[in-house]
Amino acid sequence: MHVAVYPGSFDPLTNGHLDIIRRGAHLFDRLIVAILENEGKSPLFTVAERKGLIAACVKGIPGVEVQSFSGLLVDFMEHFRATVVVRGIRAVSDYEYELQMALMNRELNPGVETIFMLPAVEYTYVSSRLIKEVFRLGGDITRLVPPQVLESLKARLPVAAR
Ligand SMILES: Nc1ncnc2c1ncn2[C@@H]1O[C@H](COP(=O)(O)OP(=O)(O)OP(=O)(O)O)[C@@H](O)[C@H]1O
Ligand SMILES: [Mg+2]
Repeated sequence: MHVAVYPGSFDPLTNGHLDIIRRGAHLFDRLIVAILENEGKSPLFTVAERKGLIAACVKGIPGVEVQSFSGLLVDFMEHFRATVVVRGIRAVSDYEYELQMALMNRELNPGVETIFMLPAVEYTYVSSRLIKEVFRLGGDITRLVPPQVLESLKARLPVAAR
């Protein structure tokens, strides 16, 4: 039984994230999407809201579930007997940070392997930060996020506030 964890802030989930989740689900028996509770990032959506959104979007993808965590990823993984970290790489700019995190996690637990996955080319420029920025400015992001996320963005950031 191979259990993998896909950690991130997912504030909010994008079609890029969803693409990685679908690909990861093919490779592992169980893929846990793990929302990092990180107050420092002053998120748009609460952890509970993000959890609900992700759960709605991954419904129907076999073996995928959603959890949240604070503290060390390796501790969270041990609790769920997960041995693989899934991360997405968009451009070379992601590489340096991802390399650091992967090697630190290996230092903390040599039994943990990190696997990097590439999204479909059409999502390689999509980030949660950019989605929020473009949406705030009135740009059309329909193609880049799941429908549930688009609805939540509309509810959270009404036209007047944009
Ligand atoms: N469009 C995408 N394609 C592939 N991987 C992605 C994509 N967006 C995010 N990821 C990866 O998903 C993981 C979690 O990312 P994270 O939650 O930080 O999303 P993000 O879009 O980078 O958000 P932010 O803009 O807030 O940093 C990271 O490994 C990140 O590289
Ligand atoms: Mg990021």
